[in-house]
Amino acid sequence: MPMASGLQVTPEVARAVELLRAGELVAFPTETVYGLGADASNPAAVAKIFTAKGRPADHPLIVHLPDAAALDAWAREVPEAARKLAAAFWPGPLTLILKRQAHVLNVVTGAQDTVGLRVPNHPLALALLQQFNGGIAAPSANRYGRISPTSAAHVRAELGAAVPLVLDGGPCTVGIESTIVDLSRGTPRVLRPGAITVADIARLLGETLPAQTTEGNTPRVAGSHAAHYAPRTPLRLVAGERLADALRTELDAGLRVAVLAHTATPMSAKNLAWHAAKCDAATYAHDLYATLRTLDEADQDLLLIEEPPATAAWLAVADRLQRAACGSGEDDET
Ligand code: TXA
Ligand code: MG
Repeated sequence: MPMASGLQVTPEVARAVELLRAGELVAFPTETVYGLGADASNPAAVAKIFTAKGRPADHPLIVHLPDAAALDAWAREVPEAARKLAAAFWPGPLTLILKRQAHVLNVVTGAQDTVGLRVPNHPLALALLQQFNGGIAAPSANRYGRISPTSAAHVRAELGAAVPLVLDGGPCTVGIESTIVDLSRGTPRVLRPGAITVADIARLLGETLPAQTTEGNTPRVAGSHAAHYAPRTPLRLVAGERLADALRTELDAGLRVAVLAHTATPMSAKNLAWHAAKCDAATYAHDLYATLRTLDEADQDLLLIEEPPATAAWLAVADRLQRAACGSGEDDET
């Protein structure tokens, strides 16, 4: 039956809702990355997320909601700034950290007094959320510490049989995870940069935000561990002007090298695979995880990535690349 908003409840969405109600996991597309969802009010279901991902139990999950009207059912003492942000950016790639309602499960919040909330901007996710009519707890649908999935095929490759159903909504349009803003203690603070920038938020709220904090200050935020979003192949970031020299050294040492560069002039050599990335931050972000996956699968000895510009527009991409470099070259067990 078509829904009031015009979103279609397909048989796949109906099946996904059945699975969620039965306490099973469902992977679903969002505009940022694919999520691994469970009924946020069912502790046994949420526990399955941690098992499937191999994720430490104290890492809190974002609860996905069908619309901003659901905010007060999950958060208390919601400040005006949160309502403004929700009105302006939801559905969209923005997660709000707010004080939680008492019923919100400890397994969802990592036993904190706060909860992360987001309304994703993808028709399939919204159809699922509206039909489910509850909160869906969902981290990115990758193994812990690894590259986030931006297609249904990535999810299947990451999690395989651990997920009974993967809803396929095509490639994600944004490509990196949502911006996370903490509104639970006074001045809003960005904990994770994303497509919605610090400047976008400051402009909307009419106030300046503290400069992006370093990971040491961020309470249990995704990727707050330096190593995250990481390929198995060792990955190094190199400034554009030093790329040719660094590459020559590695090739001379007999390594097989893949390069991802957005400004440097392409080179060709034996044992070298050159990938030209787009030079605008949004397109680069959109392609980033799929590109890292492809490069990782090519089984090279080293990935050399040209450092992105140190500008606000590239902040989210730079954050993901630095964390990917930190955790690269490690096995799942480490
Ligand atoms: O774009 C996204 O945000 C994607 C899609 C699926 O919505 N989700 C995502 O989830 O990136 P995840 O779990 O990979 O990263 C979200 C992070 C959590 O790991 C956690 O660190 C942070 O959000 N978070 C959730 N609740 C929090 C809280 N109460 N306080 C601080 N950080 C929190
Ligand atoms: Mg994640």
